[in-house]
This record gives sequence, structure tokens and C-alpha cells, in this order.
Amino acid sequence: MAGELPITRIPASPEKAEAIRCAVRLATRLGDSRLARMEDAGGLFALLSDPAVHAPIYTLPRPLTGRSVEDFIETHILEREAGIGLLFVREGEDGRVMGYSDVQVWPEFAAGELGGALHPSLHGQGSGARGAAASFAWMFEGLGLDLLCETAALDNVATQRLLDGLGFARKGEVTSTRSDGTSRASLVWEMTRADWDARHGKV
Ligand SMILES: CC(C)(COP(=O)(O)OP(=O)(O)OC[C@H]1O[C@@H](n2cnc3c(N)ncnc32)[C@H](O)[C@@H]1OP(=O)(O)O)[C@@H](O)C(=O)NCCC(=O)NCCS
Repeated sequence: MAGELPITRIPASPEKAEAIRCAVRLATRLGDSRLARMEDAGGLFALLSDPAVHAPIYTLPRPLTGRSVEDFIETHILEREAGIGLLFVREGEDGRVMGYSDVQVWPEFAAGELGGALHPSLHGQGSGARGAAASFAWMFEGLGLDLLCETAALDNVATQRLLDGLGFARKGEVTSTRSDGTSRASLVWEMTRADWDARHGKV
């Protein structure tokens, strides 16, 4: 998780922060996705290996190998126990991994970030925007967050349109550091729970 994020930092009470950690520890599903298990490493590696999937995402392991994907899953299992992170996979009917969602949480600010991708065969048909909207609603209601902070590469037009379309507010630009130490510029957006409820209705 990038050190510059979230942009807006309103400290949560210790009780609220702990309630968020508990909600993360109890989470098992996100829409039609389930928690990633070690056995998903091969399928997740196959999904992530496509540059159309991994190139725009700075939070993925680099270099991307079967082993580093196993480590990625293991890290998220430990993050779930700590109440700060979750990794979900969406299984296709043929057993392939057709998408993943990476939820990162800053309990101390009641804030979180959603990353992820869909299989390229599903791109550009509206399911990314629908899935993201449902996931954001769950992060507010299910995890009890007050703020979402999202990033996108400067050339990631689909994610930019998705976030603008859902009413996220642009907050400028930060430098995002990848796991291999390289960096890239990212645009940043934020959405408060109050603004989400006003725009999309309370879930
Ligand atoms: C980002 C992603 C989840 C979006 O899902 P999707 O199903 O492809 O997107 P949608 O069809 O819901 O479209 C969302 C918006 O992007 C636009 N869009 C979709 N593909 C686009 C493309 N290739 N170029 C430009 N705009 C595009 C859509 O028109 C829509 O905007 P609009 O509502 O203003 O018309 C998906 O493309 C993906 O997995 N990309 C690779 C990984 C990634 O970038 N992840 C996000 C960063 S963490």
C-alpha cells in the first residue's frame, strides 16, 4: 500500500478501527467472488500473466512467477488475519480464474482501496463497472469504511472512466511504487461514505 495514500486522513476511533479489522477478518465473499486459497495460485498466475491484466496494476508481484503469486496469496491470508487486507477470486464455470479483487484497508483512517482485474474476455462489457460499484458499496456497508481511495495509471482510461462515472472525486497525482522498487505516476480519486450514499443510495 502506497505511503502517500489515502490523501484524506481523518483518524478513526480505536473502537471503530477495531470493528473494521474484525469485519475484514470475518469476510469470506465479495459478490460472486470467494477468498483466494493457495490452490488458486496456478489459476491466478494464468490470469495475471496477460499484460492486458497485469500491466496497469502496480500492486501485483514483480517479477510475476508462480512462486511470487503464491507469496501474494500468502501475504493476503496474513493481512486478513491482521484485519487489513483481502484477496478474492472469481471462478469461471470451467474452473479458470476470471477475475480477482484486492481489498486493502487502513483501519486507523476507516479507509480502504480496491484493486483488481477481469479476464480480458470480459473487458469492455460493463461488468467491471457493475462489479466495482457493488464492491465499493460493500466496503462502506460491510466493512464499515468511511472513505475509499483509488488510483489508476495515467493511460488506464477504462479505470479512469469507471471511477469518474461512479462520482469519485479526483485528488491529483501520486507516485506508486511497485514490489520490485520501480515506480509510476498514478491519478488518485476519493469517495466518502456520505457522498456515496447521496449519489448511489444507502445499501
Ligand atoms: C479496469 C477494468 C476492471 C474495467 O472493467 P471493464 O468491464 O473492462 O469496464 P466497463 O466495461 O465496465 O467500462 C468502464 C468504463 O471504461 C470504458 N472503457 C472500457 N474499456 C475501455 C477501453 N479499452 N478504453 C477506453 N475506455 C474503456 C467504458 O466505456 C466505461 O466508461 P463509460 O461508462 O464512461 O462509457 C478491466 O478493464 C480490467 O480488468 N482491466 C485490467 C486491469 C486494470 O486496469 N485494473 C484496474 C486498476 S487496479
